[in-house]
Amino acid sequence: MGGPESFTLRYASTKLFFGEGSVKGLAKYLSKHSLVAVVTGRSSAKVSGALDDVLDVIKEIGTNYFVVSGVPPNPWASSADDVAERIWREGADAVVAIGGGSVIDTAKVAAAIVAGGGKATDYVTFRRRVKSTLPLYAVNLTHGTGSEVDRYAVLTIDGTGEKRGASITYPVVGVDDPKYAVTLPRDHTIYTSLDALYHAYEASTAKDLSSPYVTLLSKEAIARIKEWLSTAVADPKNIEARGWLLYASMLAGIAIDTSSTHVIHGVEHALSGINPKLPHGAGLAIVGPELIKHTHKASPAKSAEVLRALNPKLRPTPDDAMKAAETVREFQSSVGFDRKLSDYGFSRDDIREVLNLIFGPLKYLWDRVTPFKLSKELIREVLEESL
Ligand SMILES: [Fe+2]
Repeated sequence: MGGPESFTLRYASTKLFFGEGSVKGLAKYLSKHSLVAVVTGRSSAKVSGALDDVLDVIKEIGTNYFVVSGVPPNPWASSADDVAERIWREGADAVVAIGGGSVIDTAKVAAAIVAGGGKATDYVTFRRRVKSTLPLYAVNLTHGTGSEVDRYAVLTIDGTGEKRGASITYPVVGVDDPKYAVTLPRDHTIYTSLDALYHAYEASTAKDLSSPYVTLLSKEAIARIKEWLSTAVADPKNIEARGWLLYASMLAGIAIDTSSTHVIHGVEHALSGINPKLPHGAGLAIVGPELIKHTHKASPAKSAEVLRALNPKLRPTPDDAMKAAETVREFQSSVGFDRKLSDYGFSRDDIREVLNLIFGPLKYLWDRVTPFKLSKELIREVLEESL
C-alpha cells in the first residue's frame, strides 16, 4: 500500500488497526457479541465501501446485526438519544460506528446511555458520569477527527446552540483504512485535515498540559499534513496521501487526548453550535490564524516548534506572532481554503450570541488551558476580522 505500512498499536484502552484491510481486525472482537448495532451517517459509510466491508466481517463470523443510519454532521444531543433508544429497544450488546467524528461521537454517547441510562445532555454537561458503556468499535472515515483513538464526544444541545464536549469512552477498537478516505469530497478533504492541524497545534500549546511527547506527535502530524494535503486535494484517489493524512489525524487525536484543545476549538464550538451548516474544520480555519497570533505571542517556543514544519524560518519569539498567523493563513490558502464567516450566513448581529456562549457555557473548553488571557474585546476583534 501507499502511505505508512499497516500496523496495530495500543493507546489507552484502544487497540488501533491501521492500513488497508484493517477492518478485518474487528472479527475477533465482534464474534464475542450476539447482536451488533451498526451506526452510520447519511451516506459516507455506503459511498466509502466501509459499510459493505463491516457487514462482510459480521456475516462471516455469523453475528446478528442491524443498521442505524442518518446521524447528521454537527449532531444534536437528541441524535444520540434517538440512536440509544433504537439500540436499547433492539437489545444490541455492542456498537460499531462507521463515520467521521459526528458518527463516532454520537455512537459513544449512545453506548453510554444504553449502559447507564439518562440522556445525552446529562453526559455532555457533566451532570451524569459515565460508569460503563456498551463496547464501542469505531471505523473512521475521515482524516480529521481522532475520535477513533480518543475518549471524547462532542454534541450540540438542542435549542441552545451549546456544542459540548466530554470524556465518554475510548473505542475498544479503532479502524483507520486510507481507502475509505478517497471518496471524501474536496472541501471535506481540506476541512478535516485542517481540523487535525489545529488539534496538533492546540495540544502542543495548551497551558500546563503540553509535553515533549505531545509536541513530538504534533510536529509529525503537522509535517505530514504539509507534505500531503495538497496532493490529496489535487489527486483525491492518491492512497499514499490519504494514508499519511490519516496517520497525521490519528497522531493529533492522541495529542489532544493526552493534552487538550483550547481557544480555537472553544470559539469554533460556539460558531458551529449556532450554525450547524458550518463544518467544524472550516470554522477552525477561519478564526484560527488570528488566534494563533495571540498564542504564539504568549507561548512562542512551543508555537514555533510545531509551526516550523510549515515555515522553517519562523522564530520562537513573540515578535514573530504575526508571521505565525501568516504562516498558517498562507498554508490554508495554498491548499484552497478561502472561506469567511459571512459565507455561512454569519453577520455582525451574531457576535453577541457567539460571545455569550464562549464566555458562558463554553468557558470550560478554554478557561484553564489557553496560554493567554482572553477578553471579550479580543474575541470580538477576531470575529469581526473573520466575517
Ligand atoms: Fe476538532
